[in-house]
Amino acid sequence: MDSKEIRKKYLEFYREKGHAVIPSSSLIPEKDSTLLFVNSGMFPLVPYLMGETHPEGKRLCNAQKCFRTDDIEEVGDMRHTTFFEMLGNWSLGDYFKKEQLNWIFQFLTEKVGLSPERLYVTVYRGNPEIGVEKDSESVEIWKGIFGKEGIEAKDVDFAERNGMQEGRIFYYPDGENWWSRTGSPDKMPIGEIGGPDSEVFYDMGEDLRRHENSPWKDSPCHINCDCGRFIEIANSVFIEFVKKEDGFHKLPQKNVDFGGGLERLAMIAQGKESVFECDLFLPIIRKIEQISSYKYRQKIRSFEVIADHVKAATFIIGDEKGVLPSNKGQGYFVRRLIRRAARHGKQLEIAGGSWLSKVAKEVVEIYGEAYPEIKKNSSFVCESIEKEETLFYKTLEKGLKEFEKLKKEKVITGQAAAFLYQTYGFPIELTEELADERGQAVDKKAFYREMEKHKDLSRELSAGVFKSGLADKEEKTVKFHTATHLLLAALRQVLGESVIQKGSNITSERLRFDFSYDRKLTKEEIEEVEKMVNKAIKKDMKVEKKEMPLKEAMDSGVLASFEEKYPSRVLVYSITDRKGNVFSNEICSGPHVGKTSELGAFKITKEEASSSGVRRIKAVLN
Ligand code: GLY
Repeated sequence: MDSKEIRKKYLEFYREKGHAVIPSSSLIPEKDSTLLFVNSGMFPLVPYLMGETHPEGKRLCNAQKCFRTDDIEEVGDMRHTTFFEMLGNWSLGDYFKKEQLNWIFQFLTEKVGLSPERLYVTVYRGNPEIGVEKDSESVEIWKGIFGKEGIEAKDVDFAERNGMQEGRIFYYPDGENWWSRTGSPDKMPIGEIGGPDSEVFYDMGEDLRRHENSPWKDSPCHINCDCGRFIEIANSVFIEFVKKEDGFHKLPQKNVDFGGGLERLAMIAQGKESVFECDLFLPIIRKIEQISSYKYRQKIRSFEVIADHVKAATFIIGDEKGVLPSNKGQGYFVRRLIRRAARHGKQLEIAGGSWLSKVAKEVVEIYGEAYPEIKKNSSFVCESIEKEETLFYKTLEKGLKEFEKLKKEKVITGQAAAFLYQTYGFPIELTEELADERGQAVDKKAFYREMEKHKDLSRELSAGVFKSGLADKEEKTVKFHTATHLLLAALRQVLGESVIQKGSNITSERLRFDFSYDRKLTKEEIEEVEKMVNKAIKKDMKVEKKEMPLKEAMDSGVLASFEEKYPSRVLVYSITDRKGNVFSNEICSGPHVGKTSELGAFKITKEEASSSGVRRIKAVLN
């Protein structure tokens, strides 16, 4: 059964059950900055899951293009991709668990033809801390469904520790069986919706993966293990909850949000072991085999990175709201995808000029009919990819020269690796490989810490921080901006250096500042921070800016929450007292006041949780 047929059968199946087929939305979110890319079919439906009336009714289904940034590092294991197509169906306060679980089982077994014996399911274990019970309702429904097939479905707990225990239904905690756009309950920002889910897994066969050399050979066998025996193919989420400041609350309606990856279903229906061998990938793999002199099975990782990344880049550039490679926001991911693919071309010893666009043409061939926008934009897509690829090969050489300068170092620092990444587009793997060849290590942890700051920046940019207010209020905005620098410096002195900026938003009335910290601040701590900021204001400290190379700024330990917003030269704002003691030193584009005495009295009006591990302070200047 080819993927076109699976897609068609799925939509027909749900249409017969009263669902309206809605089109796939753009990969770039609309009026929503929770994430940079649409990562699921439910993304564009959030307002309707929260109670708004959808013009097409209460039952919807579609095939949606999705991109998941979190999965970038996982590409290469034969089943993870960053771009994928999700088959989805929704009940907006209409049917619930019983219909959903029965229907999806029916679709998988009767329409796709999967054997019930090979299907295993998971349910939510419950979490008293957030006041949500274990999903016994789904367990009973599953028992009935399997029972009709003559399969006794035993429910078991702690399979991750005790193994399969001859179970068919498995309980898992927040990390596995809770779904929201941003993940488990603790990762959800205030206002986000989500709920427990029940997943269906397909058994690829024990022998296939639990072979002699498998790292999982001696660990207990369970559904969510990464060994490859079980593959998740269907996820029914019961979206019933919204996260509020004081915990989880029930939404006004009970919703179903179903998602299933088309590539994985196609892989199983076509009897393949890897998603890269199903018909949505195979022509791409064949093309890469043609261009290089290797076969897929000889260099699995590089083939998969190239195939996945070029496909994703083609879809993002060719999207209705197409995004080009750049240094910020979504464009930053497009750049990363193209450069990483180009670099893996080196692993396959592909010589000569640019070649990625040949791979992109295959992507357009496969998807042009289902997603006409990429066909329409195909020459633009190919040109853009070619341009970026050529640019990368140029900086690659310059970067290699820069890398040569680090020859004498034992360890490549996180900052140096981040510098190579930012300035010359060196993915961390490239730096690692090069370092390895010379017997050097790379401080990867420090590198990722630097990259964390990038993530913050991406969020900041998409949230549109520091949009200045009306002209007559601008002066106030500038004052608040300087006050945030004093606040961050004071927080770090009172709470420690682990505090980093997580976000900021300024209106003419107040400043709002998010920072990393894992608990509520005490009254004394808040007072101390306030006092420290006010002391700095009273001391009439000087605010000065200096332009310098990014590397110099980073090497001197300047706070750099926004560093990649700037190219190789940056502005550093320092706040210093008369004796020359530095109170704050941050990379920032400004503007700022000249002297802290202009600020007036600083007062914290609120300290609260923003999301897990992130606190939010609101403050005013009088
Ligand atoms: N929205 C359900 C899923 O992505 O699995």
